[in-house]
Order: sequence, then structure tokens, then C-alpha cells
Amino acid sequence: MSKDTFYITTPLYYVNASPHIGHAYTTLAADIVSRHKRAKGEKVFFQTGTDEHGSNIEKIALLNKVEPKQWADKVCYEFKKMWLDLNIMHDYFIRTTDANHEEQVRLIFEQLIKTGDIYLGIYEGLYCPMCENFYDESELTNGDCPVHKKQVENVKEESFFFKLSKYENRLIKHYENNPGFLSPKRRASEIVNFVKSGLKDISVSRTKVSWGIPVKSNPKHTIYVWFDALLNYITGAGYQVEKNDPEKLKKFESLWPADAHLVGKEIYRFHAIIWPAILMAMDIPLPKKIFAHGWWTVNGEKMSKSKGNFINPMDMADEYGLDSLRYFLFREVPFGQDGDFSFESFKQRYNADLANDLGNLFSRVINLSNKHLGKDMPEKPENSALFAKLSPNTAYIDEKINNLQFGDALNTIWEAVSLLNKEIDTQKPWQMAKTDLEKTKSFLKDTIWCLRLIAGWIYPFMPNTSAQMQMYLGIGNVKTDNSDNQKLPALFPRKK
Ligand code: MSP
Repeated sequence: MSKDTFYITTPLYYVNASPHIGHAYTTLAADIVSRHKRAKGEKVFFQTGTDEHGSNIEKIALLNKVEPKQWADKVCYEFKKMWLDLNIMHDYFIRTTDANHEEQVRLIFEQLIKTGDIYLGIYEGLYCPMCENFYDESELTNGDCPVHKKQVENVKEESFFFKLSKYENRLIKHYENNPGFLSPKRRASEIVNFVKSGLKDISVSRTKVSWGIPVKSNPKHTIYVWFDALLNYITGAGYQVEKNDPEKLKKFESLWPADAHLVGKEIYRFHAIIWPAILMAMDIPLPKKIFAHGWWTVNGEKMSKSKGNFINPMDMADEYGLDSLRYFLFREVPFGQDGDFSFESFKQRYNADLANDLGNLFSRVINLSNKHLGKDMPEKPENSALFAKLSPNTAYIDEKINNLQFGDALNTIWEAVSLLNKEIDTQKPWQMAKTDLEKTKSFLKDTIWCLRLIAGWIYPFMPNTSAQMQMYLGIGNVKTDNSDNQKLPALFPRKK
């Protein structure tokens, strides 16, 4: 067995907060790539899940007077439900409290103690409990945690360390020899410079945190939540320390190395430095790509508990339709860059791009075809100039989705939509039909074939709309009753 499946992952989301639009963003991105590949007949394994250990989860459970696992179950359910509601088709949902994951993490930790990559020492440092991360003085913002802008604690404790420093040169070589590994390029240079400035060994166990995986040979320590969580990318894919389950062995061989880890920019260092170093220590090949996307703000502000400005994706989906949300997030901002979410820009894009451009194009073509083509299955006409012009875009859109350049793919699709609308405006098939019915039919068939292309192109972004379009485009004249003046339902009803 060898690798034959495209393997893509999202971060594992913490269960200390309900899912919001930021979480949905990464998961939708992975869904878009997965759907696109599956539609082409490729094998895909898309893994997402929840990160459930650590002091933050312990604290919030305590606050709510429930056991941490009970709390995790509740929020994990919210994530699973959200992915279902957003039409996300993941293949596997992993929880860091899964028995198999916990067992493998324990065994991996022991193995690395044996090889000397993990050793016992004393840690004294500045710790942000919210990040569950130690910081150097130089990394702080005005003395506070650079992420949470909250005071850091001075902590001294016995700790296991991972020999990150040992992998400094190998990491730099890997970055140099594999230019696509860190992506986008702009974010890669920050990582390379950080590694070149020198890596220190990192603390990978806690004695103060009880809600975590105990170290097998020294159970007063629990394994650092990041060390635990990063390993999900291999444990979920079937990796086992003792290679005794042939099914899992087969699974891992078909999936690894992962093709893409999608992460937000704030956790890039964990994924681009620590994760590859752990894999090097375990002698496992590195993933092919680690992609860091930007952050969404809301009306120019960071989403936060104190501001209470989290956007629940379902609020948008309920009002505007799920596909409109899926479209907006990837059209509005190039994947990789930061973006700002506002209701005004959402509504504007909805009315302009969806209700007006795509929705109108679709209803004009279908209504005219119903009138002039009768019930015939619209075969490709002899003269299909528009189709010939647009169909080469398929290869370009494929390339852009594969490269995670979703905005470029959508721009090209909407250029085609505009071109078709303009053609209809200039050709005026409703007038043409009065003088040259054959030419009108041929023109309409050509536009139907173009809409078939568009329905295929938008599938990974807007699966429901694509299905709806395909139904009408495939069988031409769809009627659900016998009345003559049946109206086609609007794909995107205009919003006031
Ligand atoms: N549990 C860690 C990840 C461990 S992976 C082995 C974690 N979890 S998280 O719940 O905080 O989720 C972080 C991820 O959510 C980000 O990397 C990003 O993918 C997504 N987002 C959270 N807020 C976001 C925005 N405001 N904008 C865009 N995406 C953001 O970190």
C-alpha cells in the first residue's frame, strides 16, 4: 500500500468557546478543496476535530460546575452540529479525548523519552495560561502576552522538555529545499527568520494541570496540550507506535504525508516549527504544505468575549442562505490575507454578485429556454462560441483551488457570469426569436452549456446552488405541475 489519498486537516478547535465564523472559515476552506477533489474522482481524507485538554478547559468546566469531559462533550457537539449545518463533509472528526489518540500520545511521549528527544528538567519562565504557552521577555507586548494582551505569570516547575534546538538546522534546510512547504510566502519568511534567530528546547509537560494525558512513566506530569493536540494529525490518520493493527497501518500508509494543514496565522509557529521537529524526532516524513490564513475582524474590531462581537455563521446562513455565506467568505478576501466582516459588505455582495449577476443570468436563460427550446434536452449546438471561449477556464480554476487561491477561482467564475449577462444584453434573444428562431435556439443552447460549466465550477463553494442549477440545466424544461406559466424559483431572492 502506498499513499493514494489527498489528506487535508484543520486545527483542532478548543472547546472553551462555541464555534464562530473564524472556526467556520478554516473548516469551510478544507471543505472546498475536498469537494473539488472528490468531484474530480480523487480520494480525499478531510480531518477536523476538537482540542479538549488543558487548564483553560478545566477552568471553564469548573466555573460551570461540570466535569471537564462533560463540558467538552457539550461544546464538541456544538462543533459537530455546526459543521453539519454548514454542509461540511469531513471524513473524520477527532477528539483529543478519544481513547486511541490518548494512548498513542502516551506511547509517542515514552518513545521520545527513550530516544532522548524528551528529557526532564526545570522550567522557569513567563507563562500565559490562556495560550498555554511560555514566552520570552522579548516576545511580550508591553510586558503582556502578545496574543491576549494579558499579564503573564512567572512560573517555575519541573518539566519535560522537547529538544527543539536539535532540529534548528534540519528545519532551515527543509524550508530551503521545499519552497512550497510554508505558505503563503509572506508568512514563511517570518518563520524562517525566527528559526534562524535560534531555537530553545520547549517545555512539554505540566505538573499544575490535571486535565491532560498523564505521562506514562511519570504520571505527576500531564502532557502539554499543544504536544498532545499536534499529534492528532498522525493519530487520526492511523499512526501507531506499535504497528500491530493492520487496518490502521494500511490507513496511515494511504494518507501520510498529509497534503495540507490549514491553520490560522496565530498558530503558524506551532505548526511550522514545533510540529515538523516532532515528526523529525519520530523519523516520520513531513507534511507537504502548511498554510496559514489571515484573521477576520468584525467591523474593524477583533472578535472577543469582552466585546461580545462573535459572528455566528448560522445567523448569516439563516438570513441569506448557506451558500451565500460560503461564497462571501472566500470572494471578499484573498485566502491568506486578513479581512473584515461587515453586514453591509455581505448584503452588498449578496445583491450584486448573487441575486443580480448569477441569479438573474440563470433565470433569464432558463425562462427563455423553456419558452423557445421546448422540452428537448439541450444538446451542444454547432455554433458554441461562448462555451468554447469559457471552457478553458476549467483548468485555471482547478489550479487555483488546488493552490488554495479561492478568490482567484471565484473572480474567474464571476467574469464568466458577467460576460454571459453582457452577451444576453447585446444579443437580445427575446427580440432575435421574432426574426430568427434557429439562431435564438442555438444561442440559448450555447448559454445553457456555459451555465453547466458554471454549475460545476461553483460546486465546491456553493454545493446546494450547484445542485439546484444542475437539476434545471440537465433536464431543460422542468415542471412540477401542468400550469403553463410556472415561475422558476429565484436562486437568490433580492434582499431589501
Ligand atoms: N486548539 C488550537 C489548535 C490546535 S491544532 C493542533 C487552537 N484552537 S482555536 O479554537 O483557538 O482555533 C484556532 C483556529 O480557529 C485558528 O487557527 C483559525 O483557523 C480559526 N480562527 C479563530 N478565530 C479566527 C478569526 N477571527 N479569523 C479567522 N480564523 C480564526 O488554536
